[in-house]
Amino acid sequence: MLMTDIIVKKRDGLKLSAEEIEYVVNGYTKGDIPDYQMSALLMAILIRGMDSEETLQLTMAMMHSGETLDLSKISGVKADKHSTGGVGDKTSLILCPMVAAQGVKIAKMSGRGLGHTGGTIDKLESFPGFNTGISEETFVSNVNNFGIAIAGQTADLDPADKKMYALRDVTGTVPSIPLIVSSIMSKKLAAGADVIVLDVKTGSGSFMETEEQARELATELVRVGKLAGKKTVGVITDMDEPLGNAIGNALEVKEAIEVLKGEKKGELLELCLTLGSCILTQAEIAATEEQAREMLIKGIEDGSALNKLAELVKGQEGDPEAVYNTDMLPKAPVQYEVLSDKTGYVKHISAKDVGLVSMQLGGGRVTKESVIDLSVGVILNKKVADRVEAGESLGTIHAQTLEKAKEAALLLRNCYTIVSEPVAKSKFIKGIVK
Ligand code: URA
Repeated sequence: MLMTDIIVKKRDGLKLSAEEIEYVVNGYTKGDIPDYQMSALLMAILIRGMDSEETLQLTMAMMHSGETLDLSKISGVKADKHSTGGVGDKTSLILCPMVAAQGVKIAKMSGRGLGHTGGTIDKLESFPGFNTGISEETFVSNVNNFGIAIAGQTADLDPADKKMYALRDVTGTVPSIPLIVSSIMSKKLAAGADVIVLDVKTGSGSFMETEEQARELATELVRVGKLAGKKTVGVITDMDEPLGNAIGNALEVKEAIEVLKGEKKGELLELCLTLGSCILTQAEIAATEEQAREMLIKGIEDGSALNKLAELVKGQEGDPEAVYNTDMLPKAPVQYEVLSDKTGYVKHISAKDVGLVSMQLGGGRVTKESVIDLSVGVILNKKVADRVEAGESLGTIHAQTLEKAKEAALLLRNCYTIVSEPVAKSKFIKGIVK
């Protein structure tokens, strides 16, 4: 088989066979196929597309490029959740304990943040002592004993995706549905859960900017998940502004705890109830979505969801006391209010730019090797559709120095678009694909 022939075939819009796809993935992972040939093929895929069968074969070949997790020693239904990425997205910190408190086993592999987006693994490290690098043995035994474990992805999980994603990042080939689907689903399938729920973001803060594109992505993710034999659901949600109010690792953990304590309602809770209901019904723990919602709400009211988060922290060597006393989480020395210079209504908050403000404060990675400051970030005091008076606080910057806070304040003000007419808020949950 020749890589040149495979590139030409896809360039001409033809369908690749399972053998050809396997040859490409294995050859590229081993280093036999050079970056320049792989780049050409990725661009041909981006332009010509792939059908569901090719996408499934690409997904399976990538999944088998490294180790796969064996969760067979864990009894019960195992669930996993994935978000296509966003700013202020602390959903997993809330959703995972919420559903684990209802008896679903959460065995989750998560990533670190890069650029303007955050990662669950970094957020969890805000708990003093928390270990995201536990062994596979501890991971499996924690899921068996506490019903929940969240660990960083091991180096051996889906090496094809690591190499291909890095190449896509620098060759303009990220926004391709078959490439995104195979990247996400190969990792999810390698991690071994029975139920997979996907939070597909749409809006200016995501890479599927239109609802139509997001629906197309969700449909293909679900199709491939089902073809691979998993119960898969996609929920399309808005990311036109950051999710919730906090952006920054420890600040987001604190907000997640407020939701788990029942102190905070709104979109973040709504998202967790929607995703959670999908998991409980797919796991056949609840018969209907209404029943699932009731169970999840009760778990917040009776404290079992919050206690489950404490068990997760304790099981991974962290101090569970910090779940009940958030003063123990990292805290930045400077808090600085960003005052509005306009009166009106918030029309838009650029999620990506808010993510970049947090990154500049030290809360996000510029490169994979960057060391991040867990304490810094932003609290948004005004969200889309809110009324704001000149001189009122738009947000609070949490920084290491006053100088950095002032720089960030200028940037944060520019993230806001304020208009004189009242603004209608768009629907948050755009649809569910089953
Ligand atoms: N997230 C992934 O894991 N892969 C993609 O290609 C895009 C988002």
